[in-house]
This record gives sequence, C-alpha cells and structure tokens, in this order.
Amino acid sequence: MRTARELAFLGDPAVVADLGCGDGVLTAALAARLPGVASWLLLDRDTDLVARARQAVAAATGAPVLAVTGDLAHAPLSRRLPGPALVVLAHSLYYVPGWAGVLDRLLTAPLPGGSVIAVVLRTTESASYRLRAAVRAARGQPTSAMVTGEMVEEWLTRRDVPFRTATIRSRVGRPLAFRDQAGLIRLLADDDDLRNVLTLLCHADPWTLGYSLFAALSGMMHDGVLNLSLVDRVIVIPYRNQEETCPIWT
Ligand SMILES: C[S@@+](CC[C@H](N)C(=O)[O-])C[C@H]1O[C@@H](n2cnc3c(N)ncnc32)[C@H](O)[C@@H]1O
Repeated sequence: MRTARELAFLGDPAVVADLGCGDGVLTAALAARLPGVASWLLLDRDTDLVARARQAVAAATGAPVLAVTGDLAHAPLSRRLPGPALVVLAHSLYYVPGWAGVLDRLLTAPLPGGSVIAVVLRTTESASYRLRAAVRAARGQPTSAMVTGEMVEEWLTRRDVPFRTATIRSRVGRPLAFRDQAGLIRLLADDDDLRNVLTLLCHADPWTLGYSLFAALSGMMHDGVLNLSLVDRVIVIPYRNQEETCPIWT
C-alpha cells in the first residue's frame, strides 16, 4: 500500500534508476509501489548482485529492466527519457570517494523533472555510523569516504540547491547483552531481526565479520547493555531542469 508520505517522496516517475542497487530487494519494493514506471535501470559494480537485482525487479514489474554492471561514479548517462526520473542512491553514495562529483553530475543532467533520492547515514555521531566505521576499520577498509546526511545537506545548502529530508529510525526490539563472542553468536543464531539489522548496519553478513563485529559492538555497550538503533537520512533533491530532451544513460 502506498502511503501519502511515500507518494510524496517518490513522485510519479516514468523511469527509475537505482545506482548501487545491490541485490535489488529495495528496488523490487519500489517497483511494487510504482506500477506506472515505464522502465527500470539497475546499476551496481558487482555482477552477481546485478543479476540478482534484475531477477528481483523483473519479478515485481512487467516493465523493461536494464541491468548494468558498472561504477556509479562513471555511469554512462546519455539516453533520452520519456518523462520524470527517480534516481535512487540508497546506501551506495558513501562508497564513492568523489560523492560530490557524482551528485553534481546527476543534478546537472537536464532531465524532464523528477528527483534524486539519496539515503545515507545521518551523522558521524550516530550509532549506525560508529558501528559501520568500527567494523570497516577492523577489516582494514577506509572510512574517510563515508559521507553522511549532514555533509550532503551542507553541500547542497552551500550550492543553493533546494532539498527535503526525512529521518528513518529502526531499532532492534530489545536491549542486547552478551559477555563474549560466543554469547553474541548465540544471539545472532536466535534472532533473525538482529541479524537483518546488523547486515544493514555493517553492509555485510554478520557471520562473516567474526571478531571485528564483537569488538565493535562491545565498544558501544553501556553497563554491559547495548541499545542498537539504525538512523538514516533520506534526502530528496528535485530536479530544477525541466527540459524536454534528457541526455541520460544509454
Ligand atoms: C549497502 S549496498 C545497498 C544496496 C541497495 N541500494 C539497498 O539499499 O539495499 C551498497 C551497494 O552499492 C554498490 N556500490 C558501491 N560502490 C559502488 C560504485 N562505485 N558503483 C556502483 N555500485 C557501487 C555495492 O556493490 C553494493 O551493492
């Protein structure tokens, strides 16, 4: 069911481009809410995920699905679109060191209306940011490129680009307590919701994270108890260009 709030966010696009689509679960959920979309573009740098996303979205819509393996920083954006576009960057922008360049390129594409929707971590102070950063650091991955909502909003404000925002919070249903890694493993084995939230928070299957997950979560406990919440920022940037021709992707 489309809620008024979702409708306001999504608009009425003719084309949806999901850049960094992952396995397409989110795109397929969008497809179920947007039956009027004439075509879907899926892009991810991971070929296996692109194949899964293509299947998931094709199963959710009768519209054509173009699924491409590529880097969203260099996505070939040059095809005429039949109408307003919804460009989705859900939890993908903070993997790209040149995130501002990507946004700049998307926002200056002369599209026939529509909007860019970016979902990012809200702030470096949030539990979700600290957990992702701790896990990334423990795995030897850089954290410097992890752009937050605050950074994107400041960048847009400085350029005088209008935008709207919403904050999404999801919380693990109950406080968590564990003393050692075996205790954490027992919790993970028993609780599907916890595994799902941690997968989202860490961008990885918790089972693959081993000690780095235990270390990161332990560092966030207060008095031996952890209240884990996921706080994301949704930033909606309407296109200002309303031109008829639209050199976007091929
Ligand atoms: C956390 S997942 C998010 C997937 C999906 N958008 C969602 O919200 O469920 C991030 C995705 O971005 C992709 N990604 C990261 N950097 C990328 C890049 N430079 N170009 C294309 N895809 C990228 C990853 O392969 C991964 O599938």
